[in-house]
Amino acid sequence: MNKSSDTIWIINGPNLNLLGSRQTDIYGDQSFEQFFEELKGKYPNQNLAYFQSNLEGELVDLIQKARKEAKAVILNAAAYSHTSIAIADAVAAIDISVVGIHISNIYQREEERHTDLLAKYCKAFLFGFGLKGYELALNYLVENDD
Ligand code: DQA
Repeated sequence: MNKSSDTIWIINGPNLNLLGSRQTDIYGDQSFEQFFEELKGKYPNQNLAYFQSNLEGELVDLIQKARKEAKAVILNAAAYSHTSIAIADAVAAIDISVVGIHISNIYQREEERHTDLLAKYCKAFLFGFGLKGYELALNYLVENDD
C-alpha cells in the first residue's frame, strides 16, 4: 500500500451512477451515494473517497492518480471490466493494492460478462455480494495494511 496516503479510493465505472434506479432486481434499490454515507459512518477512522465516471479514459486517469494519492483502491469498472485493455493496463501499472468488485455474480449472467480483463492484476476480487461487497473489500484492505 502507498504509505504516503491514508485514503482508500472507491472507483466506480459506467452506469453505476444509476444504482438505486437501474435494474433493481440485479443491483438493489440503494443509491451509491446513500450507501457510501453509511459506509463512512461504519468506518469513521478510515479516510474514504468515492469517484464515478462513465468514460474509459477518465477511469484510466483516476487509476493513475490513485497511484500517487491513494493507499489502496476498490474498483468496479463495470462493463469496461469485460472489454478494456486500457483499464487493465492501468491496474497492472500501479503498485498499490486494488481490490476488484462486481455487485452481481457475473458468472450467473450473460456470457459476455464472464471475462474480467482486470481480475488478474487485482490483489483480490469479489463478485455477487451486492453492495456489501464494497464493505467486505474495505474490511480486507483495513486488515491487510501492507
Ligand atoms: C457490474 C457487472 C457488469 O457486467 C455490468 O456491466 C455493470 C455492473 C456489477 O457490479 O455487477 O455495470 O460491474
